[in-house]
Amino acid sequence: MKSLLSSSSASSSPSSSSLMRKTRLSPYLFALLSFIVFVSVLYGEDLACIFGQQLQVPPSPTRPGPRTGELTVPSVSSPNVERDKSRTAGAPPAGGATDEEAVNGILGSSDQRSSSGAGGRGPVPFAIGRGEEGCDVFSGKWVRDESARPMYEESECPYIQPQLTCQEHGRPDRDYQHWRWQPHSCSLPRFNATLMLESLRGKRMMYVGDSLNRGQYVSMICLLHSLIPEGSKSMETFDSLTVFTAKDYNATIEFYWAPFLLESNSDNAVIHRVTDRLVRKGSINKHGKHWKGVDILVFNTYLWWMSGVTVKILKGSFEDEVKDVEVLSTDDAYRMGMKSLVRWVQRNMDPKKNRVFFTSMSPTHGNSEEWGGESGGNCYNQTTPIEDLNYWGSDSRKSIMRVISEAFSKSKVPITFLNITQLSNYRRDAHTMIYKKQWSPLTPEQLANPVSYADCVHWCLPGLQDTWNELLFAKLFYP
Ligand SMILES: *[C@@H]1O[C@H](CO)[C@@H](O)[C@H](O)[C@H]1NC(C)=O
Ligand SMILES: *[C@@H]1O[C@H](CO)[C@@H](O)[C@H](O)[C@H]1NC(C)=O
Ligand SMILES: *[C@@H]1O[C@H](CO)[C@@H](O)[C@H](O)[C@H]1NC(C)=O
Ligand SMILES: *[C@@H]1O[C@H](CO)[C@@H](O)[C@H](O)[C@H]1NC(C)=O
Repeated sequence: MKSLLSSSSASSSPSSSSLMRKTRLSPYLFALLSFIVFVSVLYGEDLACIFGQQLQVPPSPTRPGPRTGELTVPSVSSPNVERDKSRTAGAPPAGGATDEEAVNGILGSSDQRSSSGAGGRGPVPFAIGRGEEGCDVFSGKWVRDESARPMYEESECPYIQPQLTCQEHGRPDRDYQHWRWQPHSCSLPRFNATLMLESLRGKRMMYVGDSLNRGQYVSMICLLHSLIPEGSKSMETFDSLTVFTAKDYNATIEFYWAPFLLESNSDNAVIHRVTDRLVRKGSINKHGKHWKGVDILVFNTYLWWMSGVTVKILKGSFEDEVKDVEVLSTDDAYRMGMKSLVRWVQRNMDPKKNRVFFTSMSPTHGNSEEWGGESGGNCYNQTTPIEDLNYWGSDSRKSIMRVISEAFSKSKVPITFLNITQLSNYRRDAHTMIYKKQWSPLTPEQLANPVSYADCVHWCLPGLQDTWNELLFAKLFYP
């Protein structure tokens, strides 16, 4: 455990320090190195984050109940290997119709479906109005709003994990809390926590993905929990699954850890930082069986695919002695993952009752040269957003954006895309930086150079991720 934790600091490993020397020669390598450092932070963070939760809720493989059990076993048998390809795997939507029949009945033929908003579709579940015609809520700018932001105080939300409580960990400024997202051609509906909670009555909402999605999950709970009296709410973690319960509403808001969505050798909720990462093709039901019956699903997956220019894909099972491994380009591997997700959604989600969201890539800010800052810097010490509206960080891969939009355009069950990449790219100031719980002691070298250990991947709460949920709220009720 110790070595896993300390290995999250890439700058202390010999291979990265030799890379560091080369970076003086090559800005490309520098960018790559910064990215590796921040991805390392990401893995270390996830480990620490879940590890922290495990300290409160000790793992108990024998705990009874539907939400535990095999989740603790890293790699279960193979009966569901082929399920992903079988049309009988999931419950067919509404009334036993096939995906196609059910969807065409509501949406009309795919030609009739409008590509923007809800135009041309039947009633959208949860909708109470319509988004303004022609307004892209993801295109806009940050405006300072001391009176309306933040939407809650860090100290008022006990659910924020210590990796994201920046004030508690000494962040000197609060500037990052006071920005409101203003779309260029309309206004966002005001986040109404009462409406959100009432709509979840008797329902389940679940976020599925990596630690960035966990941040958005916690933000949602912080936005809602003050409406629920003490004693009527709880939060528990069972291995990969964290469940917030609003008892009086018979509602749960859940987070399910699956950094690739598909089965991988990084799925263990505690020890998931492995050096030789493998993602198993066609395995989405491995985790997907735990998402069935959920009313609102919010997926993300990105950074874990990005550790190099290729991804290793396992074609058989993790139990095979001789493993059949194919090396794919990152785009092709990610496309394979998106296709599996779309198939799962088509089989398991009912467009008359359910909503599916997908949050786009969360950007990182590992190299201040990208926004015209000094060389050798990163998000550390940044207190204002980037003002250049055309700014786009190099690690938010546009090719991945294209892969996502291609895959989703073919989905017969609508997947609402939360395109938060551009608006988050401006927010070099919103990361946790060094103001978070450190799980391993910092070396004197690190302490002398905060840039070296600043986390420019994750985001302080309250902060940017509250806006992601405001956008989710907008798209849920005013599609
Ligand atoms: C919030 O939603 C509730 C429930 O739908 C509604 O009664 C209330 O008027 C809304 N509040 C605002 C400020 O719109
Ligand atoms: C509580 O919600 C679940 C769905 O999450 C539903 O199946 C169940 O019927 C609800 N129970 C009551 C008493 O409303
Ligand atoms: C961070 O900001 C402080 C105060 O403005 C300054 O003293 C310090 O040199 C800055 N550090 C870096 C690494 O830019
Ligand atoms: C998301 O937004 C960015 C910039 O605002 C845009 O370039 C991209 O095409 C959008 N992606 C999708 C899938 O709509």
